[in-house]
Amino acid sequence: MLPLATAYFCTFAHFSYSILMDLLQSIDRGKLPKHIAIIMDGNGRWAKERGQDRVYGHHEGVISVREIVNASAEIGIQYLTLYAFSAENWNRPKAEVDALMELLVNTIRKEVEELKKNNVRMHVIGDFESLPAICRRELNEAIDMTAANTGLNLILALSYSSRNEIVNAAKKIAEKVQRGELKAENVNCEVFEANLYTSKFPDPELMIRTSGEYRISNFLLYQLAYAELYFAPVHWPDFRKQNLYEALLNYQQRERRFGKTSEQIQTNTPEHV
Ligand code: FPP
Repeated sequence: MLPLATAYFCTFAHFSYSILMDLLQSIDRGKLPKHIAIIMDGNGRWAKERGQDRVYGHHEGVISVREIVNASAEIGIQYLTLYAFSAENWNRPKAEVDALMELLVNTIRKEVEELKKNNVRMHVIGDFESLPAICRRELNEAIDMTAANTGLNLILALSYSSRNEIVNAAKKIAEKVQRGELKAENVNCEVFEANLYTSKFPDPELMIRTSGEYRISNFLLYQLAYAELYFAPVHWPDFRKQNLYEALLNYQQRERRFGKTSEQIQTNTPEHV
């Protein structure tokens, strides 16, 4: 006979596995967002609540990164953008910044074979040149090694600021106009988008932020124009497959109107009728 503790654990494990499977089966594979963007927030608070240093929370956060990347690839998400380090994060204590950069290098080094095996292609958006040389080298290697992969596109936002991205796009366009390569009257959304870091990617349809904070924090301000926003009440190190599935189910219950009326959406009526 099983000891009581083991029996309880097995029952509990079975119970949570069955919840996970029920959630997974409830997801409509025909209505998945192509692109999910995530603000991975709450690592520091998660660690503090356990009497640990903030960096411990970042280390635990990597376990969630691995699980969410794998779960997204498995279910058929095409693009996953993770906000891993903002331009403002450089203002954190040096010890935390150094620890985050080291964690990034070690994680990429450790995971790149797995990414290759799982057909995941890696990309980086943000101020790449501001990253330490060792990070750039490791990231470039991972980008090259996964360049032929055709599954999930994993986009890491590093040293990323959406305002800087938008200002840089405006500057590039102004320079093209100044050089006579582009007419000011021909500047439109398409031209603008071609000058953003995200020019190769579709806009996210779903943006998730963990830790119960209701902010966008300078993340994809242009690209999130029509994204559905989902705020998970758990800190990032506790955000697992089940939480992702819950976010997807919640997303699938929303009516996305893009400025039209509910009746137009339901009857699939074109504009101006
Ligand atoms: C926000 O939590 C999290 C970060 C600034 C770093 C996120 C980094 C990871 C999850 C690990 C490395 C990532 C990769 C892709 C290898 P916070 O520190 O702001 O938490 P707080 O709001 O509780 O202070």
